Amino acid sequence: MTRTDADLQQMARDHLWMHFSRQSVMTDGPGVPIIVKGQGHHIWDSRGRKYIDGLAGLFVVNAGHGRRRLAQAAAAQAEELAFFPIWSYAHPAAIELADRIANLAPGDLNHVFFSTGGGEAVETAFKLAKQYFKLTGKPTKHKVISRAIAYHGTPQGALAITGLPGMKSMFEPVTPGGFRVPNTNFYRAAEMGFSGASEEQFGVWAADRIEEMILFEGADTVAAVFLEPVQNSGGCFPPPPGYFQRVREICDRHDVLLVSDEVICAFGRLGTYFGADAYGYQPDMITFAKAVTSGYSPLGGTIVSDRLYEPFAHGDASFPHGYTFGGHPVSAAVALENLDIFEEEQLLQNVRENSPVFRKTLEKLTDLPIVGDVRGDGYFFGIELVKDKATKATFDDAESERLLRGFLSQALFDAGLYCRADDRGDPVIQLAPPITIGPAEFDEIEQILRGVLTEAWARL
Ligand SMILES: Cc1ncc(COP(=O)(O)O)c(C=O)c1O
Repeated sequence: MTRTDADLQQMARDHLWMHFSRQSVMTDGPGVPIIVKGQGHHIWDSRGRKYIDGLAGLFVVNAGHGRRRLAQAAAAQAEELAFFPIWSYAHPAAIELADRIANLAPGDLNHVFFSTGGGEAVETAFKLAKQYFKLTGKPTKHKVISRAIAYHGTPQGALAITGLPGMKSMFEPVTPGGFRVPNTNFYRAAEMGFSGASEEQFGVWAADRIEEMILFEGADTVAAVFLEPVQNSGGCFPPPPGYFQRVREICDRHDVLLVSDEVICAFGRLGTYFGADAYGYQPDMITFAKAVTSGYSPLGGTIVSDRLYEPFAHGDASFPHGYTFGGHPVSAAVALENLDIFEEEQLLQNVRENSPVFRKTLEKLTDLPIVGDVRGDGYFFGIELVKDKATKATFDDAESERLLRGFLSQALFDAGLYCRADDRGDPVIQLAPPITIGPAEFDEIEQILRGVLTEAWARL
């Protein structure tokens, strides 16, 4: 039975509770965009309109939409063995994928604990850090440090690591033990209290805030630091040069674990399999999800070092944690095929070669009065919008509401670009397209942004 757009809107209004969304869009508003098809870097909605997918769904569809090979890999696995858990049993797809990921992961990150998504991967890392220290004679190490405005997921443990008060206050008390330090937003470094000039100095300053927090809380109480290679929330903050090397030294000095939350940055976003490789540091754990399957089936995981694994490897020790669908055979089979595509089509190389062109194309937008900063890395960029370029004055809540929700998101979409207009920090537009695209598509994206941002400024 073919449903009309009106049928679907009605059913959505009656029954679908969207995530992180105002239901009033459906109850009192025009309805919700319904996406029905994807091919390459394009998507189509239920009214037949075509859009550039400038966000790879949600930082997910790195290999692009409509890949028959991935659909076939899923079908073949489902026919052979649709489901079996990895609770005391195993299946070949999860075994092969764990082996492949361990071989790709940096250093001695050799052990893969699968989940179904990113929040669970973060939750796993948090729980593992606590248990590791309990098993190794440091039972009071349980606190976790992360950065302001960083998003690390919604389970209540992961939420304790998330640095966005607006996402937590309604759920307080969340898991205790989460502490926040400044992020690496160089554009707003002075506002955070940094008084130096260079990015290198800023990196030292920002890393030292982590040590300050460890010392303040007591190193014997701190288990781990959770950092994204490039922080997404707030609008793509890359690490200043030397930042991660200094964080590593600090963590080693105080026996604190460094968790690289790569739910977005792993599997191609930065032109490498892992963000830790892009910036040359060695974490104790990496969390991943999203692009490992390019979204053709859900999967996440936590990659763990030999040292952290060791106390669990012998005798009657175990990690009493898991998910029914963690390491799902269909998802694991899809991930293996997806990684084949990455290799055969040299998608990481495509990102490395074209990232500077993408940056330069987006930097053209800095001639617009509303564009304060263009930043990011790989195929992952944020464009910060300001009211006054000279002073970097940002929009107040009401202006932000009018600009982002009232105009920009819809106007960009109407102009043919699906991307993200976000005000969890200062207002930004975020781009993270499929990693298959190149300079012609960058130009198309820039042209759409130019038109819409010019109109946004005129409306202010
Ligand atoms: C860095 C980071 N960690 C964790 C998560 C949570 O992942 P999920 O939505 O798959 O639970 C996200 C989601 O965007 C993320 O960006």
